[in-house]
Amino acid sequence: MTQAIVLSYVQAEALLAARQQGQATVEVSPDLGISLVTVELLHEGVTFPGGEHLRWKDIEKIKKSPTNCFVVQGGSIRAIQVFSEYTNRVCSLLPTKHTPSMLIAGFTMHRIVDIDPMQDTLKKIATIAPITGRVLDTATGLGYTAIEAARTAQQVVTIELDPGAQEIARLNPWSRDLFNNAKIQQLMGDAYEVVPTFEDETFDRIIHDPPVFSLAGELYSGVFYRQLFRVLKRGGRLFHYIGDLNSKSSGTVTRGALKRLQEAGFTRVVRRPEAYGVVAYK
Ligand SMILES: C[S@@+](CC[C@H](N)C(=O)[O-])C[C@H]1O[C@@H](n2cnc3c(N)ncnc32)[C@H](O)[C@@H]1O
Repeated sequence: MTQAIVLSYVQAEALLAARQQGQATVEVSPDLGISLVTVELLHEGVTFPGGEHLRWKDIEKIKKSPTNCFVVQGGSIRAIQVFSEYTNRVCSLLPTKHTPSMLIAGFTMHRIVDIDPMQDTLKKIATIAPITGRVLDTATGLGYTAIEAARTAQQVVTIELDPGAQEIARLNPWSRDLFNNAKIQQLMGDAYEVVPTFEDETFDRIIHDPPVFSLAGELYSGVFYRQLFRVLKRGGRLFHYIGDLNSKSSGTVTRGALKRLQEAGFTRVVRRPEAYGVVAYK
């Protein structure tokens, strides 16, 4: 299957600069920086190798939209953005200079200030390395943690509440493995309800990367932490993303989370400020 072309202001700027310099062709990424192709520059627009055409007017429009990525289809562009009826929130794919993030109700799903979402993901994953055996990823999002975990794990089970978020992931070139890697099993539902359905001691590693506390307080509750403890194998590890441990608001949430994780049974809970979270050991 040919993949849809997805562009952001980064590629639009490169195309417009090449036109300005009078070039006949230019190398541009058709997938937000994953690969490069040679694009032909014509009077009225550009043509990609597969024959997909894009007008300069639309390229200008992409350049002027720093908070949206666009799919190119049938010669026109469409912003990767949905209104999720499930959550009553707008979800969109947010470009960065490198790996994109998602905006849900104005919150970015990954760290993007002085760090790229992929580096953010690698920091999270590194806290519970080596990642082997069965992994539970409680909140799929764009699937970056699930995809990275699946590089070394035997199986990754990942849960997403919002069909709108899944739709955005489906259009994100950086999320392709979420749909193509047979080691990743995607479940749609509320992690608060789905996790209690798993058998005791099912997982070797758990990645718990929930929305901020104000949007999903139940995913930071003692009841939910006890479920995470129950489904984790003895000797297993949990990474729980919280936010900047040194900030006032996340500091408060962290103190509560540390206490409730210990009460849930975890033997040791350690702050990992570089990954904006904590690691709990069973
Ligand atoms: C911070 S993002 C996860 C980012 C992800 N780890 C990644 O690498 O892209 C949180 C995700 O959890 C989803 N979510 C919110 N509440 C949830 C729930 N109760 N159960 C499962 N997923 C939930 C949100 O829709 C969002 O996609």
